[in-house]
Amino acid sequence: MLVDDIDLPQEILNIISEMGIKSLYSPQAEAIPHVEEGKNLLMAVPTAAGKSLVAYVGVLRGVLRGGKALYIVPLRALAWEKIDELKRFGSVGIKVGVSVGDYDSAPEKLARCDIIVATAEKADSLLRHRVKWLRDINVVVADEVHLIQDAKRGPTMEVILARFKSLPQNIQIIALSATVPNSEEIADWLEAVHLKSDWRPVELRSYVFQGGEQYHANQDGEITREESGFPNAKKGEESIIRDNLEKGHQCLAFVNARSRAVSLARKMSVLTEKSRTTAEKDKLKELSEQVLKAERETTDIARELAGLLEKGSSFHHAGLTDPMRKIIEKGFRLGYIKIIAATPTLAAGVNLPARRVIVRDIYRYEGRRGMAPISVLEIKQMCGRAGRPGYDTEGEAFIIASSRNKVREIVERYLIGEGESIQSKLGVEGALRVHILASIAAGFVTGLDSLEKFIDSTLYAHQSDKYFLKEQISSTIDFLLVSGFLKYMDENGDFKSEKLSLYECKAPNVFSGSFKDGWNEPPMFENALSLTESVCNGIETGAIRFYPTEFGLRTSRLYVDPMSALNLRNALMVLESDPHRKISALGVLHILCTCPDMNPLYLRRAESLTFTELYNNRKDDFLVEAPADPYELEFFLSEIKTASLLDDWMEEMCEDEITKKYNVGPGDIRSRVELGGWLLYSMKELAKLFSISRVDPLEKMLMRMKQGIKEELSELVSIRDVGRVRGRALYNAGFTDRKELAKASYEQLIATRGIGKVLAEKIIGEVKSR
Ligand SMILES: Nc1ncnc2c1ncn2[C@@H]1O[C@H](COP(=O)(O)OP(=O)(O)OP(=O)(O)O)[C@@H](O)[C@H]1O
Ligand SMILES: [Mg+2]
Repeated sequence: MLVDDIDLPQEILNIISEMGIKSLYSPQAEAIPHVEEGKNLLMAVPTAAGKSLVAYVGVLRGVLRGGKALYIVPLRALAWEKIDELKRFGSVGIKVGVSVGDYDSAPEKLARCDIIVATAEKADSLLRHRVKWLRDINVVVADEVHLIQDAKRGPTMEVILARFKSLPQNIQIIALSATVPNSEEIADWLEAVHLKSDWRPVELRSYVFQGGEQYHANQDGEITREESGFPNAKKGEESIIRDNLEKGHQCLAFVNARSRAVSLARKMSVLTEKSRTTAEKDKLKELSEQVLKAERETTDIARELAGLLEKGSSFHHAGLTDPMRKIIEKGFRLGYIKIIAATPTLAAGVNLPARRVIVRDIYRYEGRRGMAPISVLEIKQMCGRAGRPGYDTEGEAFIIASSRNKVREIVERYLIGEGESIQSKLGVEGALRVHILASIAAGFVTGLDSLEKFIDSTLYAHQSDKYFLKEQISSTIDFLLVSGFLKYMDENGDFKSEKLSLYECKAPNVFSGSFKDGWNEPPMFENALSLTESVCNGIETGAIRFYPTEFGLRTSRLYVDPMSALNLRNALMVLESDPHRKISALGVLHILCTCPDMNPLYLRRAESLTFTELYNNRKDDFLVEAPADPYELEFFLSEIKTASLLDDWMEEMCEDEITKKYNVGPGDIRSRVELGGWLLYSMKELAKLFSISRVDPLEKMLMRMKQGIKEELSELVSIRDVGRVRGRALYNAGFTDRKELAKASYEQLIATRGIGKVLAEKIIGEVKSR
């Protein structure tokens, strides 16, 4: 089948051809007719088989029919790749938007876009806000849908797919998946055509590598062994990389820890440095300079990365910031960077020109579980980065075995094995309380009928004992009732908030009485009736009606876990109960870090003492007491560590110092500041809701969190291009606010550190204009 055979206008087909796609791959040729018929589709095919094109066809058809399409991606990095491709259709008037951050805003501008690329969380947030244009959506793409099994983020993907499936306008769902054993079950759940294939456009040969020899499995599952023939083959990954480089190819190496990524990149830079051409040297120098300029503050990590990039080698992990990662990916795509040593964060879905992939570690540190094997699916995703169409004509993946007696096990598990089945994680701690509250707050669930319908629509119900699920739902609803997020109206028309014990199960009374102290009954949401009109589930036949309280509604719309909202509310009550109590930033930050939405920093053993001391020295600042249980204490100390990082950030400690003090990367600072800002904003909003008198200090803290400054710089950083570093330099030079700055001469300004001629002029223009 040719591209021109697709039922789309010629001008669109021309754009697809310009992307280098002329004839269709066989899984695409099989899938596209189903898409053209408007059917739901689950496509479970290998990496690089061109799944995105099938989704694009669906999306474009949806838009041409006058609707909107939502393209859900699991990672921000992938969002940018999809946007870059979809923007090509801008020339025929199709508008593409992206929605990957900014949790509580009403995104009106998206209303004008035809295709919206979003993370699952953002799509969920759009559903919760019930944006008007939801009814225009007629196609939803779920990329990397196998990530439904991820305990942290999977339930959100599952619930939104269940939701889109039951919206009244008949949405076409196109789900793209890796090959998994139970893809048929997932297709069944989605009421989708199931398309499974092992076909890959570029041959990918996978080996287990040990002691200079490579092992692979033939079609009958027999293991064969051969000499790799690489020079110095006993050196493991080094010999594979060296050989690859000598043949002029690029390589991706996956390791299980950031420090290992850095040390491997360092080691390999000795090789890549020698192989650079003169033209490459210039380009690499440019990349290196871009990394140093990517952030306002330079850190040792950025300097190290810049130094390695100049030599043609790189590392890649979550401690880097998004701009740094983009520079690395671009440099690799253009062929200047010859090797990237990465943690598995790079694995899912990205297109990179790696002829070879090396998987050096098959175990990963998983907190309390210690070293645990990495899933087959994930290792296959890593291997699948090798041999991408358009870049390579073949690909090779090497999984390194640490010893000879591990070889058979690794071959059987990762080369022959089919991998894990996708299992719903909706039953994990927290997922149900988040999604049931969201369902009721947005009016998707209004009574027992629609609750039942919601349960039935989930993969969880599809896969597990429904009785067990009902039991969990029952205790979750009771929790939401007694904690003030919900009310229900009984058959007599009375509003109640005591436990319902639905489904007559004996749900344990997990939350009884814990939140009573200082608790003010939240007011009912005024427009509850109109808001909770059922969106898609018809008329309720039962007597019971669910309503969100204002607290429940706000929690859901703020996109915070109800448990986070409770922690924030309880802290506010403690502050309110003693008006003379000084609000300590560290104490408030610690509360943010106790929320399940925060991702606390890992606490190293040696750090326990430091943060125990910090707690003991500043006990009065904290709103919560340290737990006695040693297991809980360790958690508590990691929360204190995270709070302390945020506090240092707001006290203007420079980023380089923070990265050293906490053993983190600049990307970790960014992500915690982002989470901290969102939770602090939520706390402030809840303070307003509960008429807490001290909203003002929270507002100020929020501004300080966003900027990383002490309060005294607040006016200066409101000037364009003045951040915390320049703001501090200006302040220290005596220009403490806009008024003082207006008196400054051009000469005085350029004598200030970090202020160049152009900026000095801009500052003068700005402060004098007001
Ligand atoms: N029919 C085709 N002819 C030539 N190139 C194609 C064709 N279809 C897709 N490609 C190219 O193949 C590459 C891989 O496609 P895509 O990213 O869609 O793979 P994928 O199936 O989503 O893989 P992964 O599971 O790794 O995400 C892309 O660069 C794409 O442009
Ligand atoms: Mg893909």
